[in-house]
Amino acid sequence: MKIGVFDSGAGGLSVVKSLLDHKLFDEIIYYGDTARVPYGPKDANTVIRYSLEALEFFNNFDIDLLITACNTVSAYAITEMQSKASYPVVGVIEPGIKALVNGFTDKDAPILIIGTRATIASKRYQHALEQLGYQNLTALQTGLFVSMVEEGIFDGPLLYETMHHYFKEIETPQAIILGCTHFPLISESIKSYFDDIPTLIHSGEAIVEYLEERHGIKENVEETKLSIYASDNVEGLRAIANRWLND
Ligand code: DGL
Repeated sequence: MKIGVFDSGAGGLSVVKSLLDHKLFDEIIYYGDTARVPYGPKDANTVIRYSLEALEFFNNFDIDLLITACNTVSAYAITEMQSKASYPVVGVIEPGIKALVNGFTDKDAPILIIGTRATIASKRYQHALEQLGYQNLTALQTGLFVSMVEEGIFDGPLLYETMHHYFKEIETPQAIILGCTHFPLISESIKSYFDDIPTLIHSGEAIVEYLEERHGIKENVEETKLSIYASDNVEGLRAIANRWLND
């Protein structure tokens, strides 16, 4: 299968890493809209417009499936994308919720959801989890992490200070939903900030489980051919890809 993976920038590479590790596809076309990242602070209409423009980019390739490896796009634009595309379009929010529910059954334990302003404001994660009976949710907009990842900052004092800024007043969570695909790139730092996190939900790992469960897609290739495209500074994106995917 040849698939497309779309994100506003480098974050979707965290999803690509999971897809490569699990050897699911023959070919992946990655597109990062680096000219317009971040999407998180933008209004729903803008996110929808950009996402539909990304669909046009994928018209150049004959893909079988598109993964929107971006929670912000998944929160706002998935229905529009699905109605315009001639192939299935799969977002990351539903898989993330399913992954949490599968692995974490304590409904009173503190759960932290972090994401962009848009994703948190959409309340997609909060509503779904509340409906499933999870009672102790804290949802935080942590948009600065996106800029840091785009800058290639994955650890160190600047990131620590930013985590402190966002996390200083919250109860230590027992599970964290990384509700932005940029965040797995800093997940080691987040884990060490909280000392130890029993459950960490990562859109990439969640979607691998989901693709198997819902679409019957499982490990079946020796090697995946990956092509990376960007709307700006493709070299910068490739540098992050080299660092991140070869780890
Ligand atoms: N990686 C994206 C997400 O999962 C969006 C980051 C951004 O563009 O603000 O939400």
